[in-house]
Amino acid sequence: MDGVVPGGLEEPRRLHRAVRYSLFAGGKRLRPALVLLTCRLVGGREKDALPAAAALEMIHTYSLIHDDLPAMDDDDFRRGKPSCHKAFDEATAILAGDALLTLAFETLAKCPAAVVPQLVKVVADAAGARGMVGGQQADLEGTRGKPTPALVRFIHRKKTAALLRASVQAGALCGRADSGEYNTLTEFGENLGLAFQVADDVLDVTASTKQLGKTAGKDATAGKATYPAVFGLDRSRREAAKLAGRALGALEDFGRKADDLREVMKFVIARTS
Ligand code: IPE
Ligand code: IPE
Ligand code: MG
Ligand code: MG
Ligand code: MG
Repeated sequence: MDGVVPGGLEEPRRLHRAVRYSLFAGGKRLRPALVLLTCRLVGGREKDALPAAAALEMIHTYSLIHDDLPAMDDDDFRRGKPSCHKAFDEATAILAGDALLTLAFETLAKCPAAVVPQLVKVVADAAGARGMVGGQQADLEGTRGKPTPALVRFIHRKKTAALLRASVQAGALCGRADSGEYNTLTEFGENLGLAFQVADDVLDVTASTKQLGKTAGKDATAGKATYPAVFGLDRSRREAAKLAGRALGALEDFGRKADDLREVMKFVIARTS
């Protein structure tokens, strides 16, 4: 990513510094890990998937910058540091997000030419109005009234699971998975993605701001439609474990080759940050 993002000395410096500030603040890099491990699992070369891995992390980082804005979740901390609009200013944070989203597609186009059209379709669909952006809208509207299980599932599938599923799909495409493998891995990615957001909701209640690197307890204060709000903590944890079980089930046919992805799935529900 360092090689494709404009340097901090390039004008306009404030924009490029804001982009770099958020991108290199120390995220878990889960999405690029999924891209690369999935590509390897289906027998592909890691170098063919690297641009896609970078692209998914850039889209994810843009989504965090915008998610933290005062008009959205209004969060002052991210990745253990002041959020982008706090370290810079709101307008710069908006533009840094725009820059990252655009640069992501420029980077994605550096993947092997034969897979670029399919990659663009899968990633754009997951990031856009029918995916993450739509989920963010539903998340904002979800603070009105009492959430239902169906609503919270809809929000989480869109705002979070879509991009995680697309990370797995991008890795599968870069590694030239056959259609059977692609469908199985899609099932894995979808369940992992939903489990990830359930775990995020649980951590918002149970972990500290220090552990999370973002303000804890914010969902309840904001009246967000979350799994704990609908099901309570215990059932949310069980739900996350059930989704993880489904994700692991999808990996069965791959045998030991899929052990790295199994570790990632386990990490997603056992993590503390
Ligand atoms: C946080 O994602 C936002 C959600 C989709 C829940 P991560 O927990 O993967 O954030 P970083 O990348 O590690 O900061
Ligand atoms: C974020 O959901 C999903 C995104 C698309 C960024 P949250 O609002 O729960 O993410 P955090 O808890 O702020 O990281
Ligand atoms: Mg949010
Ligand atoms: Mg948020
Ligand atoms: Mg959250």
